Amino acid sequence: METTFLMVKPDGVQRGFIGEVVSRLEERGLRMTAMKMMQLDREAAKEHYAEHEGKDFYEPLLKYITSGPVVAMAVKGNSAISLVRDMVGETDPKDAKPGTIRGDFGIDVGRNIVHAADSSESAERELDIFFNGSDYQEYKRVEESWVYE
Ligand SMILES: Nc1ncnc2c1ncn2[C@@H]1O[C@H](COP(=O)(O)OP(=O)(O)O)[C@@H](O)[C@H]1O
Ligand SMILES: [Mg+2]
Repeated sequence: METTFLMVKPDGVQRGFIGEVVSRLEERGLRMTAMKMMQLDREAAKEHYAEHEGKDFYEPLLKYITSGPVVAMAVKGNSAISLVRDMVGETDPKDAKPGTIRGDFGIDVGRNIVHAADSSESAERELDIFFNGSDYQEYKRVEESWVYE
């Protein structure tokens, strides 16, 4: 099993998509193992988006991601990292397929509703920014033997 990092961004929170995002993850058979609402300060935002420093969208991105509360989640399941990325859709919602979160709810690349880790290295790094060991809950959903063979 893999654990990935997903975050409902400030626009997703403001537009009332926390429940929708959580529902989609739950319906897929994934399991949240940690969840936290917070507002990122500039330092935390810079750490999270370190790979984008220097790009032309970096400053607007920091402003966007610190503009209001976000909901951070650890999401666990078989192949969770690629599965959740696929559920989120392309970075630019204009290119994201219907059926994905961005493709169903977004239009503008600067307001793309959710973040999801893109690799196991990113997932580990990002989870460590947002969560401590004691934030995680270890449990199994009762239906898991019906989700997995
Ligand atoms: N060209 C752009 N203009 C404005 N914002 C952008 C642009 N490219 C990326 N972003 C923002 O930066 C975030 C991080 O970019 P990236 O890591 O490339 O995408 P993803 O979130 O799909 O992993 C995007 O989700 C989006 O919020
Ligand atoms: Mg990324």
